[in-house]
Amino acid sequence: MQSKRRVSIIGTGSYVPEKVLTNQDLEAIVETSDEWIYSRTGMRERHIAAPEQATSDLGAEAAKKAISDAGIDVAEIDLIIVATLSPDMFFPSTACFVQDKIGAKNAYCFDLGAACSGFLYAMDTAKNMIASGAAETALVIGSEKMSTFIDWEDRATCILFGDGAGAAVLRAGGEGRGVMDAVMGSDGSLADLLSTPGGGSRNPMTHEMLDQKMQYLQMQGREVFKHAVTRMTETVISTLEKNNISADEVKCFIPHQANIRIIDAIAKKLKVADRMYSNVDKYANTSSAALAIALDEAVKDGTIRKGDLVVLTVFGGGFTWGANVLEWGK
Ligand code: ACO
Repeated sequence: MQSKRRVSIIGTGSYVPEKVLTNQDLEAIVETSDEWIYSRTGMRERHIAAPEQATSDLGAEAAKKAISDAGIDVAEIDLIIVATLSPDMFFPSTACFVQDKIGAKNAYCFDLGAACSGFLYAMDTAKNMIASGAAETALVIGSEKMSTFIDWEDRATCILFGDGAGAAVLRAGGEGRGVMDAVMGSDGSLADLLSTPGGGSRNPMTHEMLDQKMQYLQMQGREVFKHAVTRMTETVISTLEKNNISADEVKCFIPHQANIRIIDAIAKKLKVADRMYSNVDKYANTSSAALAIALDEAVKDGTIRKGDLVVLTVFGGGFTWGANVLEWGK
């Protein structure tokens, strides 16, 4: 058996659709206000995919940018994992559609379901597959067309989400410590607090199911908020302790982009407000794409540089959560 190998992120990319939906635009759709949305969430606008764009189209655009950033030939990719809760179809996997769109003929492909936590779960899976020798060069994507699964008559949820995709290329080797370690967790007993209950085998696609709007995302916002703050804070602390790293050594913390108040609460508990990254004002919550887009932007805008220690953390439906630590090597 091969010993574990170091794994690095060698390229990132992201894509958001052209159409921008502002808080003012939402005022014309549901009874809400820019003031209410901004003060409760920190969101100003979000991007919405065109009717003809599916999740794989967004993912493929982000993937092409990540591959170009990595400077590799697409034929070198031997693994594609797409994290999504808004797949093109039940099957085939969105990853297979992305493979076809970008021409990654040598990859084997699957989707991963961990709701908003999906990108970090996918990164951890790819990292461990590369470290074990099961893969060499992995394309990890978080992609969502959330607008399809939102009830546009429900002001409590429709204001929160946006569409988009982010991607990273992971490969064996590289300089520095690379993608070092992760602590992940789940609690299925709290599944009902955040779910899209209709359309699957539990509540099949019937007229009654559609009349009850069970095909749309449902959540108990306040409960989700509390668990998100607690779990992301705890899992960051566990990850740092497990790796003998102090929070002072970390250059940048990138949390799931669900709500600026969640992000601020975590920053306060960890005492790292000066190093907490957020772009939730521009994109709202893009679920599994949110962390991937934020990572790409933090790299491109110079927040993260070679040699920096970075901590990523997520929380989502399931409940699922996790954090990892990496040393940026590019
Ligand atoms: N505009 C105006 N008023 C609204 C809106 C809106 N868009 N939405 C709800 N309200 C009203 C409610 O009807 C309620 O009115 P009432 O007091 O007359 O009944 C009032 O505002 C307060 O509603 P709450 O839901 O209690 O508001 P809260 O302060 O908790 O904020 C929010 C709601 C923003 C959803 C918050 O709970 C939250 O961010 N939770 C986290 C959920 C989350 O991020 N989920 C995303 C998926 S999970 C993830 O990605 C981690």
